[in-house]
Amino acid sequence: MQRRQWLRAATLLGLAATGFQRSALAQATTVQVWKDPNCGCCHLWVEHLQANGFKVEVRDVGNTAARKRLGMPEKLGSCHTATVGGYVIEGHVPAADIHRLLKERPVALGLSVPGMPIGSPGMDGPEYKGRKDAYDVLLVQKDGSTRSFQRYPGQARMAQRGSLQRVNDGTAALPWVTAEVRRIDKAARKVTLKHGEIQNLDMPPMSMVFQVKEPAQLDALQSGQKVRFQAVHENGAYWVVKIEAVAM
Ligand code: CU
Ligand code: CU
Repeated sequence: MQRRQWLRAATLLGLAATGFQRSALAQATTVQVWKDPNCGCCHLWVEHLQANGFKVEVRDVGNTAARKRLGMPEKLGSCHTATVGGYVIEGHVPAADIHRLLKERPVALGLSVPGMPIGSPGMDGPEYKGRKDAYDVLLVQKDGSTRSFQRYPGQARMAQRGSLQRVNDGTAALPWVTAEVRRIDKAARKVTLKHGEIQNLDMPPMSMVFQVKEPAQLDALQSGQKVRFQAVHENGAYWVVKIEAVAM
């Protein structure tokens, strides 16, 4: 082989190798997300991932079935479930922690931020006025055991919030919250509500999809209607316990 030909072949080989590495890397950092189409905070989390170098493929079919299939315990559940690089990601996990997970590759099922802590990526819009609650990103094992992978200390908040939350553990004491109905899905037993602050869930005003305990209560409702409701957080989902129309 002539020197020039050999050089050319070597260059082509080198290019092919770089191309391969690049596509392998892109594949490893593609995140598949299962979420509800009406969840605003899920969408903001997806944008956060994209802004931090991830390619994201979204399945707008809800996340309960995916979470179960992927083996993420319900008690660690949140509003969306994802997979990346062989790991399961549940909830509003910061992109930096996913990057670290993929770099360190610990033996684990994946990461979870249970619930929807305010101040986590996607839960940090202007409506929260810069509020940052403390939360842990949990490293989850296949047997469901967890340890803290990363702690976010949050910022000090008014002491009264915590006490309000503890008072409301029985349904009798649940506060009524006002809302506007955005969407009703009787078949799926779901309702989307644009609601005020839900103190017992520590949830600020937002649009959110709720499961409904008694779908018959949806019969008298339609979208655009003003309602009041009571909600709880159970088995990784938000549930409307009672909902009724109120005068406009
Ligand atoms: Cu969320
Ligand atoms: Cu979400």
